[in-house]
Amino acid sequence: MPAATERKLTAPTTKAHFTAAHKQSLRRRLLAWYAKHARDLPWRRLCDPYRVWISEIMLQQTQVATVRDYFTRFIAAFPDVRSLAAVEEVDVLRLWEGLGYYRRARQLHAAAKQVVELHAGSFPRDVVELQSLPGIGRYTAGAIASIAFDQRAPILEANTIRLFSRLLAFTGEATSAAGQSTLWKFAEEILPQKGVASFNQALMELGSLVCTPKEPQCDQCPLASLCAANKLGLQHEIPAAKPRPTFTHVREAAIIVRKNGSVLMRRCGENERWAGLWDFPRFELDSTGPLFAKQEIVAKVAAQTGIQCAPGAILKTLKHGVTRYRITLDCYDATYIGGRLKSSPAAPIRWTALSQLTALPLSTTGRNIATLVAR
Ligand code: ADE
Repeated sequence: MPAATERKLTAPTTKAHFTAAHKQSLRRRLLAWYAKHARDLPWRRLCDPYRVWISEIMLQQTQVATVRDYFTRFIAAFPDVRSLAAVEEVDVLRLWEGLGYYRRARQLHAAAKQVVELHAGSFPRDVVELQSLPGIGRYTAGAIASIAFDQRAPILEANTIRLFSRLLAFTGEATSAAGQSTLWKFAEEILPQKGVASFNQALMELGSLVCTPKEPQCDQCPLASLCAANKLGLQHEIPAAKPRPTFTHVREAAIIVRKNGSVLMRRCGENERWAGLWDFPRFELDSTGPLFAKQEIVAKVAAQTGIQCAPGAILKTLKHGVTRYRITLDCYDATYIGGRLKSSPAAPIRWTALSQLTALPLSTTGRNIATLVAR
């Protein structure tokens, strides 16, 4: 489009006003901005499908600044899909430790095995086939197909939901069926014929650096003149703030049961909060007062592990949050009295030497306790 024609464009105020000329202008402005402002991120240096996939899974629910080092360590340990498929799940979880949402790591490992077993170690190029792999939804499939294979596949994730909602002054709920339909359609309509890899990354980069959740920097934005929210002065109202969750306070206990320099550890079962990770015996405490708490601990450790113990002092109290729960966790010292481990292959329980705790994947609070007892 000639520059003079583009200058005459006025910002749309509804989706219907977002014309072909607006889309063309958006592509040109966005790519020019990205050429100047793209960050040098480790997963952008070599865009093979494996790296794109690992980075996109890590970037779900996690900030770029945190993902950088995790990604570099992960790729150093497992440089390709075959090396990831060949290790045990416990080794994948250990490298994921601290990133949270551990289901992502378990699905990553399961998907790597499928790529090796069903696709001879090569990622499918097709978005529908990609979505048959564990943990790969429409967004991740679109990211792999577009960034690694330069296919015309749309993407929609947190950054682009915000960016598109503002560009269209979309005031509805982005996660509703109508919202998803509107936003995915827009993601598809604005794709260029070629260079989709850069285009999709540029959209996310603009959302991440300029069209931020709070205080969007519209004065720095290459798309401000095309943005309906900006034209209407609604950029702070869109997307609508989510209602604040109501927190539930819970008291829990983690028990460090000691026997000859080892501690009692169990692997969390499939239906537990930290499925696949290892943990000290841990449970909610119902009783109040130290005497009743100790009786409850004796009973619950026995029920969880088969082991009789004598609880001692509280070594530390940790406060942490998981989803809508605000948890106060008392970490009790305890000594082994007797009993037999109630271990099974699906739910193993082990006496673990303190020096071996570094090898087990633990939750953040689990690692905190392990560091405390290993001192
Ligand atoms: N957030 C999710 N994926 C991203 C990417 N590839 N670049 C920047 N931010 C992202």
